[in-house]
Amino acid sequence: MKVSLIGYGKMGKEVDAAARAMGIEVCSIVDPAEGTHRVIDESSMRGADVAIDFTVPSAVLGNVKAVCSLRKDLVVATTGWLGSEKEVKRAVADAGTGMIHSSNFSVGVNIYLKIIEEAARLFDRAELYDVFGYELHHRQKVDSPSGTARSIAEIILANVERKKRAVFDAVDRKIEPDELHFASVRAGFIPGTHVVGFDSEADTVEISHVARNRRGFALGALMAARWVNGRKGVFTMNDFMQDYFQGVRG
Ligand SMILES: NC(=O)c1ccc[n+]([C@@H]2O[C@H](COP(=O)([O-])OP(=O)(O)OC[C@H]3O[C@@H](n4cnc5c(N)ncnc54)[C@H](OP(=O)(O)O)[C@@H]3O)[C@@H](O)[C@H]2O)c1
Repeated sequence: MKVSLIGYGKMGKEVDAAARAMGIEVCSIVDPAEGTHRVIDESSMRGADVAIDFTVPSAVLGNVKAVCSLRKDLVVATTGWLGSEKEVKRAVADAGTGMIHSSNFSVGVNIYLKIIEEAARLFDRAELYDVFGYELHHRQKVDSPSGTARSIAEIILANVERKKRAVFDAVDRKIEPDELHFASVRAGFIPGTHVVGFDSEADTVEISHVARNRRGFALGALMAARWVNGRKGVFTMNDFMQDYFQGVRG
């Protein structure tokens, strides 16, 4: 499989390095400032099986349309574009190609989410335990809570009957028993830590995922590229993970 990288910022460069380590050929790099090409066209996509987008939210719809018009499969790892989801899905359907997207391509994080789902189901029956979460990220991060924190909160709310809504912001009152408190801390250079806790009078159970660097996202995006190569339709990491757990590799 050959890939074209769209966007050569921090993540594009990380994917480039990870591809070399995985023996995947990067046949072109599209980026306004760096890379082998400036735009997505026949020349930049020549020979590519899958294009991997790590750019900016405002570029995603145009990139998807351009890649689809050249009948290439696609990994969209850029976050914050879901307002254009309908148009993106239409472009992929019209082209008859494949696309996979996720706000977190790390296989470790996706396994962590499965563990949280199972833990939430178990603690649903253990009413003595309250549930909480927090996440830590570097001080350059522009959003809070993280997209992964939102996904974790959704999983807990779907599986713990006594929790009805998530509260991410500061509260100037007692937290209600049916509220899930999820805090965000921004400091220093922390690549990303997520913690979910279950707390009773007697003990605390904490489950954490600690990212060491960006490599996990890059490896996951490349595995997803292998998986989506030749498929038709729009997929998410949930689809990839289902096959992954059954030993089906991309
Ligand atoms: N899904 C995941 O697992 C995951 C993990 C990490 C990050 N992300 C997301 O991935 C995105 C990129 O992150 P990053 O840290 O690599 O950002 P970054 O360092 O800012 O890199 C983005 C790059 O894309 C370029 N670019 C902008 N528009 C483009 C276009 N139309 N075509 C080609 N290249 C274009 C930018 O060029 P200029 O600077 O010249 O504009 C820049 O070089 C963000 O949305 C981030 O949230 C997702």
